[in-house]
Amino acid sequence: MEKKGQRSTHDSLLTHHPVLCIIALSVIFIAIDPFHISPVGGREFKPVKHEVAPYKQVMDNWPRDNLSRLGHHGKLEFVNEVFGPESLEFDGLGRGPYTGLADGRVVRWMGEATGWETFSVATSKWSEKTCARGVDSTTNKQWKHEKLCGRPLGLRFDKESGNLYIADAYYGLLMVGPEGGVATPLATHVEGKPILFANDLDIHRNGSIFFTDTSKRYDRA
Ligand SMILES: *[C@@H]1O[C@H](CO)[C@@H](O)[C@H](O)[C@H]1NC(C)=O
Ligand SMILES: *[C@@H]1O[C@H](CO)[C@@H](O)[C@H](O)[C@H]1NC(C)=O
Repeated sequence: MEKKGQRSTHDSLLTHHPVLCIIALSVIFIAIDPFHISPVGGREFKPVKHEVAPYKQVMDNWPRDNLSRLGHHGKLEFVNEVFGPESLEFDGLGRGPYTGLADGRVVRWMGEATGWETFSVATSKWSEKTCARGVDSTTNKQWKHEKLCGRPLGLRFDKESGNLYIADAYYGLLMVGPEGGVATPLATHVEGKPILFANDLDIHRNGSIFFTDTSKRYDRA
């Protein structure tokens, strides 16, 4: 008799509170993540906590624009001329800025007379028709093209050789000579694993190149 009684309590929990049951199951599913579908699923994940100095202590010593120089004297440049510029660089001759755009090009500013000039692309398959979509290239309309067109995110000149190193989200670590053109891949894999989301780089004075890969699992789209 007692068993039967328990059973009917269970039945009524399910029938009377189906939403509650579904929520409870969902919470358990998310917490356990049995199919490893979360970004950290199936990976060893060790969160590290860093103590940050108190806000007030940091801000008291923070150099600030207390005369609003940026507000009063700042100039907005190149509005609606380039879309999705990321990194900015100047070459050894002081030309530029060079920047990576959402349509996959690395462009450079060559002064009023010439304006913006395409300097480099990640692949010979890059085409204006597929890739150069103006302001649309900064929206999700570009996602299906990005893999082909590339997305240069990090730029750094090697001041000695004049070569430009590019961290392209899809094409990995690339290099192009001072004259520009189609960039040459330097690394698409690290320790046998593909670079999925190269993001930025810097060149150490000893010649080593350091770059960041934002994800081991996902690309940008
Ligand atoms: C503005 O900041 C400078 C240094 O960051 C400081 O020397 C100066 O006293 C400040 N001026 C005002 C009005 O707070
Ligand atoms: C350059 O220095 C960095 C930082 O100390 C080090 O990790 C790297 O191995 C060095 N590279 C070379 C080629 O010595």
